[in-house]
Amino acid sequence: MTNGKPLHYIGLSSVDSTNTWAKEHVAECAKEALTCIYAREQTAGRGRSGKHWLSPKDTNIYASYVFFLPKDFKALHNLGQILALSCVSTLKSLSLLPVIKWPNDILINRKKIAGILGELVELKDSYAAIVGIGVNVNMTSEMLARIDQPATSILALLSKPQDIMSILASLSQAFHSDLVRALREGFSPFYPQYNALLDRLGEEIRVENRGERLRGICLGIDTEGRLLLQSPGKEPMSIPQILTISSGEIS
Ligand code: BTN
Repeated sequence: MTNGKPLHYIGLSSVDSTNTWAKEHVAECAKEALTCIYAREQTAGRGRSGKHWLSPKDTNIYASYVFFLPKDFKALHNLGQILALSCVSTLKSLSLLPVIKWPNDILINRKKIAGILGELVELKDSYAAIVGIGVNVNMTSEMLARIDQPATSILALLSKPQDIMSILASLSQAFHSDLVRALREGFSPFYPQYNALLDRLGEEIRVENRGERLRGICLGIDTEGRLLLQSPGKEPMSIPQILTISSGEIS
């Protein structure tokens, strides 16, 4: 326990999804703690945009962090980005060099190694935040080939099986200290590190935003974590515009 916020763990053998389990058990999580709910396998792991998250037994990290926030907490929409930074520092401690694909995918060599799914439950006087993370730890290349997008794992990169629980412990400690800082200072101390790790900075990207497809140069994020895109404008010869995007997927 550090900074007055205890870190609790709840380990499950098999669960549909740690995020779903967390949502159903919010009332059992201590109000002042950071609770990490992790599982050996998920039978219906959930990804962003309704996608499935492949979660074979005793292979990877499947964890959801639960904590409570006051209703006026300013960085409510940056929690996934903060966990992405905690994950980057954990992977760097294993000598890996990850980058972040906005808003919170973690990539190495342009392949996804970890994904984050954040959800909020509104309570009477607070929000319960549920921030789930899947990190591909010991997936073999055969398993990775079953994923519908380019994916990698720590095993594939280091050619050595890893201790899942010690990586989960490092990740949880990193997130605990980042969260304590975010509770005090909001997202602003994280914003420069995030921009320094952003994939495709200065490159032309396409973003799918609420059914609209946008194209432009990736300028980084603003202090609130929104993506800044320099768009060429709709008409030929129009003045380029800077678009501020708060949700979407980069393709
Ligand atoms: C994504 O990149 O699409 C997000 C993936 C999030 C996966 C994790 S695994 C633990 C937690 N439980 C879930 O069902 N999803 C998240």
